[in-house]
Amino acid sequence: MKLIRCFGLVVILICFAPALFAATKFSVATKTFSLNFEVGSDGRLYQRAVGGADANEKLLRTAESYPQAGDGYVWEPALQIVHADGNTSTALAFDSVTRTNDEFGRELTQIKLHDPAYALEVTLNFRADRERDVIEQWTEIVNHESGAITLERMASSALLLPPKNVYLTHFFGDWAKEMLSPITEQITPGTKVLDSKLGVRADQFQNPSFVISLDGAPSENSGRVLAGSLEWSGSFECAFDDNGENIHALCGVNPFASAYHLNPSETFTTPKMIWVWSANGLGEMSRKLHSWARDYGMRDGHKTRAVLLNNWEATGFDFDFNRIANLFQPAKDLGVELFLLDDGWFGNKYPRVNDHAGLGDWQPNKSRLPDGLAPLAAAAVKTGLRFGIWMEPEMVNPKSELFEQHPDWVIREPKRELELQRNQLVLDLTRPEVQQFEADSISNILNVPDITYAKWDCNRYVTQPGSSYLAPDRQSHLWIDYVNALYALMDKTAKTFPDTELMLCSGGGGRVDYGALKYFHEFWPSDNTDPTQRVPMQWDYSYFFPPMAIASHVTHWGNRPMHFACSVAMSARFGMDLDLNKLSAEDKAICAGAIAAYKEIRDVTAFGDLYRVENPHENYRGAIDFVSPDKTRAVVFAFQLKDGENVPVHPQGLDPAKNYTIHELNPAPGRAPIPQEGKTFTGIELMRDGITPSCSKAVEASVIELGS
Ligand code: DGJ
Repeated sequence: MKLIRCFGLVVILICFAPALFAATKFSVATKTFSLNFEVGSDGRLYQRAVGGADANEKLLRTAESYPQAGDGYVWEPALQIVHADGNTSTALAFDSVTRTNDEFGRELTQIKLHDPAYALEVTLNFRADRERDVIEQWTEIVNHESGAITLERMASSALLLPPKNVYLTHFFGDWAKEMLSPITEQITPGTKVLDSKLGVRADQFQNPSFVISLDGAPSENSGRVLAGSLEWSGSFECAFDDNGENIHALCGVNPFASAYHLNPSETFTTPKMIWVWSANGLGEMSRKLHSWARDYGMRDGHKTRAVLLNNWEATGFDFDFNRIANLFQPAKDLGVELFLLDDGWFGNKYPRVNDHAGLGDWQPNKSRLPDGLAPLAAAAVKTGLRFGIWMEPEMVNPKSELFEQHPDWVIREPKRELELQRNQLVLDLTRPEVQQFEADSISNILNVPDITYAKWDCNRYVTQPGSSYLAPDRQSHLWIDYVNALYALMDKTAKTFPDTELMLCSGGGGRVDYGALKYFHEFWPSDNTDPTQRVPMQWDYSYFFPPMAIASHVTHWGNRPMHFACSVAMSARFGMDLDLNKLSAEDKAICAGAIAAYKEIRDVTAFGDLYRVENPHENYRGAIDFVSPDKTRAVVFAFQLKDGENVPVHPQGLDPAKNYTIHELNPAPGRAPIPQEGKTFTGIELMRDGITPSCSKAVEASVIELGS
């Protein structure tokens, strides 16, 4: 073993001569989790199943780490390459493992492999966050051959799971039903595939985050669970290949129609796959992931978010300067801090007065906004609000000046009739002129004085993959090159406008993934804002994403009582989408009370630990609580979905010895005070005896602050 110092970092390099192969074992370890590797006498790299299930068994081909197609491997491969000479097999041998401490507690392990018969180098990368049991895994493939090679499959990760009793929980749901249908099923022999083939978004039907559990169906506070989440906003595939001996979880870009040609000296880097481990159930797993996300998975994860008013549900496309400006003072009076102007502000030859025209023409509409966006933004600021703007930079309507000028800029298949979704087409972001056009459009919009927030939307997916920019033999690069160009654009936007907050949106929740979220502050989880649906939906999203990133707006969807709608929105990133000029005095008072209460607790819901207490999928009620990092404060939310007894909610995570004083926030008008109101109890008493919420009927809610 050699110890090398480079760039001030300690790098441990372990190289092994072939003779030592049989004895080589090493791990990528965090506090309570490890990935255990072993080099076989054949020089190949093997992996032990996570959870330590097969530690004493001999190495089988089925336990190969990052298995490669051909040369005897007959199951689902992680890597499949056609070499320059046409050989379709790859056989990787272990070279070395290096470890680099890139930051305290985060260690990068790089396992280098090569094919002795070909000039091909593969590096498996693992960045381990020790304290939080998070491992990010990705792969780099370098072609040193004399000709181009073709990657047919190139997974980010190929984790090995034990052969028996492995359960998978995944989330299905079309538009307005995102994440609403969790499915838990046992993995059985064969290949279970979660995937999407949508090109510019990961999800319309299947979300790229899931949970694996090793002790039967997962539960909140016990059992070994592993969350998986792919950092990729395009077509993805997670294949769970159970060959009877082992299960490989093969996750990465979807190999479907995506053969990627790599010229000599070129490197292909896969997206990162995030794994988070807990031996104590889903609750602990999420808390670790939320904590990681606040540091590394999203922007400004340690800043609270402003109370936002959006006009989409209130006005749709039907607005002008005055209608919007008239919302500012009522918003300010209610306590709103930020106004977001949604779709419909642009287009002149083809005004964006409905969803049939105007996308691509990012000039303010002269009859709605005669002097552009700046005076409207200035009016908001003068009222004491910040101002934000909607944009959909990747799209174009055929009815637009942009399409008239550049019909060849769209993604389309030759000789096929153009297929529209929401009357629009996707611009081909692999084309440099399109990259420049989108970057300029974004800059022009965000450079308007007083714009400090933007919602980046994407309202269709790709159905006719074809690029007039890419060469005929490079058409299959479209999916991957598009997403990489998109990330370059998002990265540039985030760096050029570091003080502009960004909401990630894709016709609802099509881009809820950590690939894009790292450039954004929050995401729009679904157009479905019916709070009775948001309770289970936000519950499911919270397995993977911190509630401070989940935009939750009070609207009239479902016509639920205002108090219930506000309470649900308060449990995530609070916003409103209402015509405040049409609200009754009673509803206004409820909203004002909710906003004031939200401001009081938002540091706890943003930075505190989340405990999911009563599952709304299984009960007549959903309940959660947040506990501040120092455990001096907590907030309990109870959401009644059906009539039922108001039995106590038992909060979790409190300091048993600390005293907490109970206070219901913004109580619903006419309801009796909760029995514990104003009284003080120790954490252990509250966790044991519970707190009785004020709700007992369907669509009632209770938000209770525990202060010290
Ligand atoms: C879809 C989004 O999900 C909505 O919130 C809204 O912004 C519309 N697009 C606007 O077209």
